[in-house]
Amino acid sequence: MRLWDLLAYLPRHKRDAALATVAALLAALAGVYAPLVARRAVDLAISMRWESLPPLLAAFIALTAAQGLFAYIQGVSARRLSEGVAFDLRVELYRKLHDLSLSFIHRQGAGGLVARVTGDVEQVKGFFEVLTTFLGGSVLVVFSIAAMLAIDVQLALLTLAVLLVLPLLPRKLSPRIRRLFDISREQYARMSTILQETIVSIIPIRAVNAARYMLDRFSQHNKAFNEALVKAGWYRALLWPTLNLLNNAALVVILLLGGWKIAAGSLTVGDLTAFTMYTGMISWPITQLGFVIVNMERARVAISRVHEVLSAKPDVEEAPDAAELRVTQGRVEFRDVWFSYDGQNYVLRGVSFEVKPGEVVAITGPPGCGKSTLAGLLIRLADPQRGAILIDGQDIRRVKLESLRRNVTIVHQDIYLFPDTIRNNIAFARPDATDEEVVEAAKLAHIHDFIASLPQGYNTLVGERGVTLSGGQRQRVALARALLARPKVIVLDDTTSEVDAETERAIYDALTRNLKGHTIIVITQRPSTMALADRVLVMDSGRIVAELKPRVEVAQVWRGGTV
Ligand SMILES: Nc1ncnc2c1ncn2[C@@H]1O[C@H](COP(=O)(O)OP(=O)(O)O)[C@@H](O)[C@H]1O
Ligand SMILES: [Mg+2]
Repeated sequence: MRLWDLLAYLPRHKRDAALATVAALLAALAGVYAPLVARRAVDLAISMRWESLPPLLAAFIALTAAQGLFAYIQGVSARRLSEGVAFDLRVELYRKLHDLSLSFIHRQGAGGLVARVTGDVEQVKGFFEVLTTFLGGSVLVVFSIAAMLAIDVQLALLTLAVLLVLPLLPRKLSPRIRRLFDISREQYARMSTILQETIVSIIPIRAVNAARYMLDRFSQHNKAFNEALVKAGWYRALLWPTLNLLNNAALVVILLLGGWKIAAGSLTVGDLTAFTMYTGMISWPITQLGFVIVNMERARVAISRVHEVLSAKPDVEEAPDAAELRVTQGRVEFRDVWFSYDGQNYVLRGVSFEVKPGEVVAITGPPGCGKSTLAGLLIRLADPQRGAILIDGQDIRRVKLESLRRNVTIVHQDIYLFPDTIRNNIAFARPDATDEEVVEAAKLAHIHDFIASLPQGYNTLVGERGVTLSGGQRQRVALARALLARPKVIVLDDTTSEVDAETERAIYDALTRNLKGHTIIVITQRPSTMALADRVLVMDSGRIVAELKPRVEVAQVWRGGTV
């Protein structure tokens, strides 16, 4: 993404962009005109023509007030513009996160992505803010220089020769400052990754007594972050004294040469007054020119980082002519599916099977054999490299993702509960469900009694700032959610692993009875669960190595320890 691409965001904020630009121009015009009035007033005062002074002084005040007013309008609208662009970028980045490639997310880490949505967006925003100010500033500078040249060419050129050193300063320092800022951003991202990992995994980290180790890692990045910013501050601190020094040097030049010219009669005191005013007025915008160049560079880096996220290719893309998935029966078919996360090591190697409508199929196999991967492919978390997956004869690559994920529910082994009430967590897939239906689903999932025992019942908040549920309770809430949604195809990926065997049995009994005619795939390690299935597929190293049909067979195999 180029800096210019940012202009694409401007039309959305036309009003603010126009207002900021016009106000900046008007402020500059009023600013340029004021010294000319002052010049005339000084000359009239010296020649003691007091009677003409009041209107001039009134005009001077009016111009300065106008400049202030327009600067105010410009400030407000420039802020609205830059905040508006930042707002848009944050929304786009967040929306993108939901279909961003999983490997990309993994590579960036939580901290890296957070840094992009926060830090880099701030950077882009800052650039927009400076840009409008700079626009007004350049008009002020150009007009002021013209006015100075009109008053006295020699004096003007000499003053400018001193002032033009100003933009060089930020340019000279900018590569060093930029490098330091790059380092600081990188370290910041790493720090936030550690921070987030620590918060998420605080219990296992305490369990292995790793506070010291984590603190060392955190401190290492904290130190590098701190050092980079202190150093950058050192360069930045150089700026103001130098600016002041150059400004005063220009004044000395003006006073010396100007004084001499007044004595020689070729310059009036009013001219000199205007000159000093112009010098003071333009030194900051000229310095800013240097800043804008530095900022442009930093904004370019930031925008390319933001763009990297926005333009990242998702793992799965919806076909342009994708149709709505129509599930009438719920037949699921895997045809010679090969899948690899990294393009080299195949996790699924030629998996073929069919689940007939209304069938309950269990899938089992040792950890890491590819069961969860297989489930994920069914809702297109990724696409297989070879082969196809069909639901009721429709290739899932040719249907709308939303309709696929609405019709096929996977209760994943890692359960996410929204920071909301238990009721809303269960009703998530069907917000129109009645309270009775929610309770019914909770009863089927054997979680109703627990919910009812909570002081606030179904209105209890879970997640952040709410109650903490145990693994088994979370699994059953998720199960209730899936039961309420009544999808035609449901996959339970080790969903009841943390529920005791007896409750699990009762749950599956209720489930198979209640979802009769629905296609159910149960991923499990427990023989008792397998016993409930019509068929059991046994996986090993990415292949289906056996299929057991009669329920007795399962029990035998397990007793014999061949699985
Ligand atoms: N997101 C991922 N990126 C890379 N490799 C993965 C990813 N998820 C799982 N794997 C690998 O794929 C294999 C199968 O994993 P998985 O499907 O989770 O197995 P199971 O559910 O049977 O325990 C494992 O070797 C695992 O390390
Ligand atoms: Mg798994």
